[in-house]
Amino acid sequence: MIVSGSTSQSLAAALAEATGEALAGVEFERFPDGELMGKVGEFEADRAVVVASTVSSDAHIELLQLQDAVREAGAEEVVTVLPYMGYARQDAAFEPGQPVSVRAMARAISTGTDRVLTVNPHEPDVTDHFSVPAETVDAAGLLADPLPEDLVEPVFCSPDEGAIGIAETVRETYGGGETDFFEKTRLSGSEVEIEPSDTDVEGRDVVLTDDIIATGSTMSESVAVLEERGAARVFVTCVHPMLAANAHTKLARAGVETVFGTDTIERPVSAVSVAPVVADSL
Ligand code: R5P
Repeated sequence: MIVSGSTSQSLAAALAEATGEALAGVEFERFPDGELMGKVGEFEADRAVVVASTVSSDAHIELLQLQDAVREAGAEEVVTVLPYMGYARQDAAFEPGQPVSVRAMARAISTGTDRVLTVNPHEPDVTDHFSVPAETVDAAGLLADPLPEDLVEPVFCSPDEGAIGIAETVRETYGGGETDFFEKTRLSGSEVEIEPSDTDVEGRDVVLTDDIIATGSTMSESVAVLEERGAARVFVTCVHPMLAANAHTKLARAGVETVFGTDTIERPVSAVSVAPVVADSL
């Protein structure tokens, strides 16, 4: 059965449809002292696939509870799908005294599962931190689906070299165009500087691709640079549309017309579902 965390209910339903596995009933409660309880309804299956994007600390707790609840209900195998894995960007102790948060989360998640799947993590070697078999799922190709077929001399561009693989996959799935990347310097958690490349974008459609839009700073700066250089239409795409705090406003003020992502994080801009690629890996 497919068991959904509160953060991944649309994706879990799509996954149930794609795999033919039943969607379990779930309930989420909060006690007066603030504690949470995620619980599963009638459970009749050997395998439980728990699907939960850990977009918040509460979502982490809920996931651990659902893993425990399905074992308690008799699941012999538990597979945990992390469409988006939170805390994965703190993948090193960058300053003395800091934790490797991704490792701490992976250890906790490993205790309640037999296997883990996660979609386009910030660094692919995140899988090394789990003590059970863990695999990554690449959903980048799906970002080509909502693009119009009439892109003019398209450039598929990532805001930094680290995300060029996503731009290349989207270009390949789209079936034509050029790839490119910018240089990004992070000034603070919410401020970045973007240095464009020499590629001539004047009059061309540009598809900006990244793994995640968090505060929207990276994308809004990238769009500003493209507008200065006379790009035609600019499409802003990402796998994980976190869009935290005022990210939407920032993007709108930068003149972004089209922004979309997948349902690894369920947002109004989640134009495409990762259910088919997750189902394949299941
Ligand atoms: C960083 O390396 C990531 O790939 C994203 O570019 C970054 O996390 C986006 O963050 P923000 O939207 O806050 O600029």
